[in-house]
Amino acid sequence: ENHILGTLPLHGKKVLLTAGPTYEAIDPVRFIGNHSSGKMGFEIAKAAANLGAEVILISGPSHQRVTHSFIKVIRVTSAQEMCDEVHKYFDLVDIAILSAAVADYRPKNIAQQKIKKKESTFSIELEKTKDILKSLGEVKSHQFLVGFALETNNELEHAKGKLESKNLDLIVLNSLNDKGAGFGGSTNKVTFITASHDVIAHELKSKSEVAQDLMQQILKQTHA
Ligand code: CTP
Ligand code: CA
Repeated sequence: ENHILGTLPLHGKKVLLTAGPTYEAIDPVRFIGNHSSGKMGFEIAKAAANLGAEVILISGPSHQRVTHSFIKVIRVTSAQEMCDEVHKYFDLVDIAILSAAVADYRPKNIAQQKIKKKESTFSIELEKTKDILKSLGEVKSHQFLVGFALETNNELEHAKGKLESKNLDLIVLNSLNDKGAGFGGSTNKVTFITASHDVIAHELKSKSEVAQDLMQQILKQTHA
């Protein structure tokens, strides 16, 4: 046993993370996706690993890379693949943090051949993807479950609604209406809301600092 590692607060703990967007296929060459870079999730992975945790990071398509030896990265494409991988590991972990920007809808049918252009308008029928976070909230036992909420209006109300409907211990409200916050950038303005409805607002910070604040909040709530 390494004496220095043994003093880290998350030594011996396992953290499951999701990050990045998901891509939902339309045909062999096209998909529905979003602009999530995956940066926030990869920063959380680093912050958790630096506290001694063993991290399993399930990532959608992203250019982010990790080098930390405590982080195992599993790359997926669609919401369904992400959901399947998350459920493989959930039983084994102590903390799950779902920061991925999962597509809410996917094409109901995937064309087997490239779709040819014809009419001047064209529609694709979409169906809901599975809510991965909610599905974990329904089966959680000992795990500390953390979700994100990306909101543009009635933020606190919407975030509290998600905290409750998904059976979370903590939700990170990501404010999009502030300059520099959100997708693609390197900063975020977040508010933490706990299961007992404590509201902790933070200033605009780098994603790396937000990740460290989040891990400190989790340590506080789990008394680790
Ligand atoms: N989430 C998920 N699976 C989905 C959709 C969302 O796991 N199919 C997770 C996200 O990773 C995030 C949380 O649910 O942690 C909230 O995502 P968000 O998009 O803010 O909320 P939704 O519940 O999808 O509702 P809406 O997009 O309508 O606001
Ligand atoms: Ca959504």
